[in-house]
Amino acid sequence: MDAILDPILAAWRDRPGALLPVLHAVQDALGHVPAAAVPEIAAALNLSRAEVHGVISYYHHFRQEPPGRHVVRVCCAEACQAVGAEALAEHARTRTAESGVKVEPMYCLGLCACGPAVQVDEAELHAAVTPAKFDALLARLEAGQ
Ligand code: FES
Repeated sequence: MDAILDPILAAWRDRPGALLPVLHAVQDALGHVPAAAVPEIAAALNLSRAEVHGVISYYHHFRQEPPGRHVVRVCCAEACQAVGAEALAEHARTRTAESGVKVEPMYCLGLCACGPAVQVDEAELHAAVTPAKFDALLARLEAGQ
């Protein structure tokens, strides 16, 4: 991990406001921000581990574990919540528990008028997703389509 972390920290350590760019660079390189990187990032940027961890957990964008083979983001913002997003997210977590698909919350995908909205792998957007529609989507992902 040092081979990846060291150049990132060397590039950013003396720049103000470096924490977010460093976290983005680490996640871009590794797919997530591993817990083992937190002490090194904190030391390099003269921050506490708690400060670094606080920023990682505050921003939903940052993953603390490697992503699944596919990432499905369920919008949990207000308009989607009003039409069942929380139940859909729970259904999605239950259905993907043993699969290579990771479910993450997302806060607004711009489809507020036709929620619940879901994004697959930062590419596909799906509107008005019911549990049955989610199951069909999951079956397609698991079939590698
Ligand atoms: S609130 Fe869900 S897409 Fe905007």
